[in-house]
Amino acid sequence: MEIILSPSVLAADFGILGEQIRESERAGAKYLHLDVMDGVFVPNISFGIPVISSVRKYVNSVFDVHLMIKEPERYIDRFIDAGADIVTFHAEATTKAEECIDMIRSRGKRAAMAVSPGTGIEAVTPYLDKLDMVLCMTVEPGYGGQAYMTEIESKVKELRNIVGSDFDIQVDGGINEDNIGRAAGAGANIIVAGTSVFGGDIRKNIEGLMKACAQL
Ligand code: DX5
Ligand code: ZN
Repeated sequence: MEIILSPSVLAADFGILGEQIRESERAGAKYLHLDVMDGVFVPNISFGIPVISSVRKYVNSVFDVHLMIKEPERYIDRFIDAGADIVTFHAEATTKAEECIDMIRSRGKRAAMAVSPGTGIEAVTPYLDKLDMVLCMTVEPGYGGQAYMTEIESKVKELRNIVGSDFDIQVDGGINEDNIGRAAGAGANIIVAGTSVFGGDIRKNIEGLMKACAQL
């Protein structure tokens, strides 16, 4: 299975964001992970719709928008207007999962659900037929730079067994050159990395992560 790297701009220098995401694209990243935090679903606040529509002009990457917001149904259309290609919302953040999925798919975009570390896959299994991807968080959502939780690998394996090979499973949080192979080995095929991409030399970091995957 092809492993896709999705660099998380949360760890980028926002003062030169356009430059940094262009560099990530030039280094071969085909996706861009955009973490939206509302200070309610998670304790942190990041950025929102105006930032996403601005950076949309600078790259052609697949915009992988990770909504860490309460009642995402309120904003899904606006994030799609801003340029989202994939919209991921949290199972824990809404009682209207089916409605959210329909909103995303009716606009021709990829729908995904995320589960925080304490949430089991039974939160997403009723919706698998309609979903394009499931994100298994490998840290508690809210902050970049946390340590990868190896115990999530069993959740990823369990999910991969259910969905088969033709389905995207994403992991997000604490991924670096040392553990990217483990995450992929467990069955994840879209891998988010923030600090390990934007901390330091972006090109070198992306090449290193991709090489660590290629050795699988
Ligand atoms: C955490 C975010 C992650 C974060 C990953 O809530 O969803 O996408 O940016 O950052 P690193 O790779 O630094 O853990
Ligand atoms: Zn994320």
